[in-house]
Amino acid sequence: MTTQSTARTFPDGFLFGGAVAANQLEGAYLEDGKLPSIQDVLPKGGLQPPTDEPTPDNLKLEGIDFYHRFESDLALMAEMGFSVFRISIAWSRIFPRGDEETPNEAGLAYYDRLIDAIVANGMTPLVTISHYETPLHLAKTYDGWRDRRLIGFYERYARTLFERFGDRVKHWLTFNEINAITMAPLMAGGIWTPREELSTSQLYQAIHHELVASASVTKMAHELDPEFKIGCMILSMPVYPLSPDPADVWEAKRIEHENYAFGDIHCRGEYPGYLLRMFREEGVELDITDSDREILKNTVDFVSFSYYMSVAATADPAKQIRGEGNVLGGVPNPTLEKTEWGWALDPMGLRIVLNDYYERWGKPLFIVENGLGAKDELVEVDGVKTVVDDYRIDYLRNHLLAVREAIEDGVDLWGYTWWGPIDVVSAGTAQLSKRYGFVYIDRNDDGSGSLERYKKKSFDYYRRVIASNGAALDEELS
Ligand code: BG6
Repeated sequence: MTTQSTARTFPDGFLFGGAVAANQLEGAYLEDGKLPSIQDVLPKGGLQPPTDEPTPDNLKLEGIDFYHRFESDLALMAEMGFSVFRISIAWSRIFPRGDEETPNEAGLAYYDRLIDAIVANGMTPLVTISHYETPLHLAKTYDGWRDRRLIGFYERYARTLFERFGDRVKHWLTFNEINAITMAPLMAGGIWTPREELSTSQLYQAIHHELVASASVTKMAHELDPEFKIGCMILSMPVYPLSPDPADVWEAKRIEHENYAFGDIHCRGEYPGYLLRMFREEGVELDITDSDREILKNTVDFVSFSYYMSVAATADPAKQIRGEGNVLGGVPNPTLEKTEWGWALDPMGLRIVLNDYYERWGKPLFIVENGLGAKDELVEVDGVKTVVDDYRIDYLRNHLLAVREAIEDGVDLWGYTWWGPIDVVSAGTAQLSKRYGFVYIDRNDDGSGSLERYKKKSFDYYRRVIASNGAALDEELS
């Protein structure tokens, strides 16, 4: 039985906004001293093999020219009433190769202007230090996070950001969807060696380096400014047993453990027993120093996560069908509808994750990604070009209603940032036609289009939800 909340608004001070990542919208991928990141050799998206170097023939679809248009784009976000805006900083704008000693001033100056504009528009900046955009040089020369030296490069990069932007940015995320490295080691870990050639030990050694780096900059941040709030960022995906058979229930838990491990280490400061058992049984031997163990004790201030879908799990080998969109394992849930990209639609799953994470870690939470990727059609209504995206409005409403219930359940939630409030290039497939935005961008997957911006119907809906602090969610949708 489910209970309905009586609260009609969100708590005072709840942050509503949107989230983007540098490589998915900035464009200008070689401007002002920037060098390529791993994204620039993933023209088909992060789940496909890379090309060797970016060339004019295999260029990835460049973002939406946010690099040059951020002021007018942020004005649109402000019009919706955003009180928080999540960006990422492109590492390869600040340290173009990744291993330099001195940062690139032009890159820093760009983010100075961007952060100033976010603040001037009345929004709290929430900054991801590394969002799937490791400098290409680090990937090709060091094999990314497999090399322990990455910890030092990342520390230098993070310190540069803290010192330069710390007067305006207090909320930081260390690595976007850190657990995605298990399925997408290049995108999430800058690892050039193909996934199928990586041993479990090599993969977990790279993960260990990222975890140490995350804890180390958490420590650094706290020493530099006690006001800094540092969060980890996890790809959440609740796993339901396909049946009540305890074997299925355990299989669901086993898959959840693969993801929980990242939060457990970030929040508890040590490796959980179930992961150590897996290491023993699979002969995984890691280079973990005493100093690493000490550093890991620097736990995060809050847990942030993305939520798009849930999956199911079964112990029955005959039923192991992987769903289209579920990169982290699990089988499709027959009770749920799916998006055009095969992602299960499950607002209740968000309430479940919120309760689960809060009960497990007892840390404040932040939903830093949630959204619907869909094909949109630009039409004219009363002489104005727009998209009648009732499906996106439904998605937003149902998920925010679930969030409101979770807050009533007692979850301490700081905010909610919709993924891609302006259409951006998809991380998984590199398509622009997989649109999440409340603002439509006239750009096609082949790069054609005027880059004009148009407000979709959902733009005004989110504006009303924010203006009413959630009360508008109760209105009937016409
Ligand atoms: C998350 C990423 O995986 O999901 C984002 O943090 C990404 O970068 C988002 O864009 C949606 O995924 P996709 O593949 O539809 O872009």
